[in-house]
Amino acid sequence: MTVVALVGTQWGDEGKGKITDVLASKADVVVRYQGGNNAGHTVVVGDTTYKLHLIPSGILYEGTTCLIGNGVVVDPQVLCGEIDYLHRGGISTANLYISERAHVIMPYHKVLDRLEEERRVRKIGTTGRGIGPAYVDKYMRMGVRMLDLKSRESLEQALDQTLPLKNEILQNVYGHPGFRKEEIVDEYLGYRKTILPLLTDTSLLVYQARQAGQGVLLEGAQGTFLDIDHGTYPFVTSSNPTSGGAAPGVGIGPNHIDQVIGVVKAYTTRVGEGPFVSELNDAIGDLIRERGREYGTTTGRARRCGWFDAVMIRYAVRVNGLTGLAMTLLDVLDALEDIRVCVAYEYRGERLEHFPADLNVLRECKPVYAELSGWKEDTTEVKDVTDLPAEAQAYLVFLEEQVGCPIQIVSVGPRRDQTMLLHPIFR
Ligand code: GDP
Ligand code: IMO
Ligand code: MG
Repeated sequence: MTVVALVGTQWGDEGKGKITDVLASKADVVVRYQGGNNAGHTVVVGDTTYKLHLIPSGILYEGTTCLIGNGVVVDPQVLCGEIDYLHRGGISTANLYISERAHVIMPYHKVLDRLEEERRVRKIGTTGRGIGPAYVDKYMRMGVRMLDLKSRESLEQALDQTLPLKNEILQNVYGHPGFRKEEIVDEYLGYRKTILPLLTDTSLLVYQARQAGQGVLLEGAQGTFLDIDHGTYPFVTSSNPTSGGAAPGVGIGPNHIDQVIGVVKAYTTRVGEGPFVSELNDAIGDLIRERGREYGTTTGRARRCGWFDAVMIRYAVRVNGLTGLAMTLLDVLDALEDIRVCVAYEYRGERLEHFPADLNVLRECKPVYAELSGWKEDTTEVKDVTDLPAEAQAYLVFLEEQVGCPIQIVSVGPRRDQTMLLHPIFR
């Protein structure tokens, strides 16, 4: 009986899709609990690369039940497209279910996401997928839920609550013509054939799986520093990717989560705006970007790259209650002569060990670096941690000590067989 939450410890794109896929070989159920198709999770199986935005990364296993939990915001158009994409690749979605409580991304959410971003003085660099505006409606209690798609009447009723206000904002604030209810209703009812059979009480399925002693993996999207509460606000997403978001986003008790694994890159990346203390705007940053193919899975934007930041990961260990780390992309550092790790920040002559809340402070923070030797050796075919070059092993030990959490998984390439499990996660 194990429920494992897998969370991003940085600014997203840590390799959650890959690690979820690896762990899903042993799990019975994989659940997404927050975010939406702002996520882009990559899974490489043999010669095929799958990019998943909404459907859990466990979907490539025939027998694994995949659930989109109530905490996710679902764009039905994207969902239908992703189901089609998987079917074209010969992947079954027979075990996919969606919470009827999940909120729906509507056309006006996507338009508002773009218009709000254009209007902002301080740009966030959102993915433009309508995520923020959909969560706004959820918390304004004027959202449309998946169960509203069950009949024309219920969808119309839900839209009557919200569309007049959206149109007023679109027309009067943004000079946009707005949306006609009939058009939205017709489009969204068109998705019902695919979607209605998938709607269920996903919380109950997870509860029953746990009662039956099955392994359940909760797949986080985004990352700790994109968390609406714990991230670098306002340069964050509109949900709680941290482990605390998993219980309400799935509909389980927090005491039912047995382990929390933090996925962490061997360095740091960020897409979009906001401060980044260990950022490298130089040839090493470019080398990491090229070696790690650091271009966004969702928007194709170049990711900003920097050294591993132990201050950030210490914070991630704390706010997620991490029980273990999965270290990814270690192989990207294979080419480097010397490696640096940010162990503290210096703020106006003062040493900070803990990540500050105030972005004005963060912007002025200078990284305090520890210097380590690189290994200049190819690690991509190493199958056992003890066979890694001595300097790479020393790097891992140093990071564990710095952040106070054991590394349980080491990944040296995108493929499944480029993964070393130091400690079994599911029996
Ligand atoms: P996610 O959003 O956390 O699932 O991560 P993304 O899929 O957006 O980005 C991670 C990228 O790194 C993907 O292209 C993966 O295929 C790739 N990847 C994952 N683990 C490794 C690794 O250990 N080494 C290398 N070289 N690539 C990896
Ligand atoms: P995965 O799951 C990286 C970033 C966006 C932007 C901010 C807000 O693949 O790790 P949003 O559209 O959510 O309102 O954008 O959050 N962002 C991500 N960055 N990986 C992601 O997901 C992200 N999802 C959102 O770039 O800075
Ligand atoms: Mg991603």
